[in-house]
Amino acid sequence: MDKIIIRGGKRLSGTVPVSGAKNAALTLLPCALLTDEPVTLRNLPRLADIDGFQHLLNQFGISTSIAGARPEDFGRVMTLQATRLTSTVAPYDLVRKMRASILVLGPLLARAGEATVSLPGGCAIGNRPIDLHLKALEAIGAHIEMAAGYVRAIAPDGGLPGGRYSFPVVSVGATENALMAAVLARGKSTLHNAAREPEIVDLCNMLVAMGAQIEGIGTSDITIHGVDRLHGATYMVMPDRIEAGSYACAAAITGGEVTLAGARMEDMEATVQALRDAGVHVEPAKNGIHVAADGPLRPVTLSTAPYPGFATDMQAQLMAMLCLAKGSSVLTETIFENRYMHVPELNRMGAHIETKGRTAVVHGVQKLTGAEVMATDLRASMSLVIAGLAAEGETQVHRLYHLDRGYERLEEKFALLGADVERVGGD
Ligand code: EPZ
Repeated sequence: MDKIIIRGGKRLSGTVPVSGAKNAALTLLPCALLTDEPVTLRNLPRLADIDGFQHLLNQFGISTSIAGARPEDFGRVMTLQATRLTSTVAPYDLVRKMRASILVLGPLLARAGEATVSLPGGCAIGNRPIDLHLKALEAIGAHIEMAAGYVRAIAPDGGLPGGRYSFPVVSVGATENALMAAVLARGKSTLHNAAREPEIVDLCNMLVAMGAQIEGIGTSDITIHGVDRLHGATYMVMPDRIEAGSYACAAAITGGEVTLAGARMEDMEATVQALRDAGVHVEPAKNGIHVAADGPLRPVTLSTAPYPGFATDMQAQLMAMLCLAKGSSVLTETIFENRYMHVPELNRMGAHIETKGRTAVVHGVQKLTGAEVMATDLRASMSLVIAGLAAEGETQVHRLYHLDRGYERLEEKFALLGADVERVGGD
């Protein structure tokens, strides 16, 4: 397995291109199931999870072609066409490798009237149930049954009638599945307490580009008027606000000055506010966001929350940055039950972090020291890289496959910013 070697102490500077958003792409790709016409996605990030999703869609009979990607380009253009489906089953061996596979449930149900998807199971950060996905689809008229580790969803004859569902907990994925099922329903559907993440807005905008009728985009109350069919479209994946925030934390911990090309301030206001509270200068730039840290970092106290709150996907990265703040920060993780896997590894690098249940107290220290560390999940891995960039000496981050799921060619991007980062195969 690959590992990354970081020789810390370099101040990051320069411009880094922000890739298309992984968590937008993973819900835009299954939209191709909703029409027999070609769908083209631009600015698709080159990530292991995207490759995995492409493979999953291929086995339903979707044709996919990649165009316009020179080796040096970041991002790709992919055209997908589901002329006819040859299967409506998402098998265990594919779903277990990538939980986001559950996002084929709604569109398969809408297009084919049925879907059989392996239960995704949990992951390092939590048990990740899908009960809200199933309740929302039932509310829209699906019949749901579970058997042998699979969920089977069936639409009544003639298709889903549509319906109303109020989410007891905000769920990004369940909102996405409900939206993709409702757009082809026979009637109207309304979703309340729906997720409002920018990736949901991206999905709604893509569905509207395909001919869907959706009101309340970007709000927690969404109305979908089902239509008979959707047509193809070409759509640009939004920039990755979590990747952008991750590089901002990396710039800040090194006392650097970086432009995040393509990032959108409006997608990441809570992250921008947290950085500013920590004493980091963050300003819009003509082609993105400019981040500069020219003084000591200040401690920050915050809780993660659904959008527009502070993103849980940014918690580990911000925590790494705060290890060197002048004072103690208090972070509370309200979304997932086990999202402090990075803490023991950061402490091995000399951080002083105490966790109690969902709360972590990050006591700022004078310095971090490079060490061999183990990546456990995507965002925890990036927090170890961020710490390594500021640590004295060499840090080796093992199990890089976690990072490759969500950060496009990160060693090349960090090299653009002057970091001493090297990928080494096999460890
Ligand atoms: C999406 O996961 C993202 N993944 C996650 O990003 C992100 O952390 C999460 O949203 C929250 O923003 C993708 O978009 C592919 P949820 P999702 O449903 O949809 C509970 C990353 O690092 N819940 O909003 O799975 C759940 O356990 C990944 O890029 C239920 O109880 O998240 C959690 O506590 C990690 N029942 C809370 O809701 C359900 O049916 C929020 O989960 C669904 C969720």
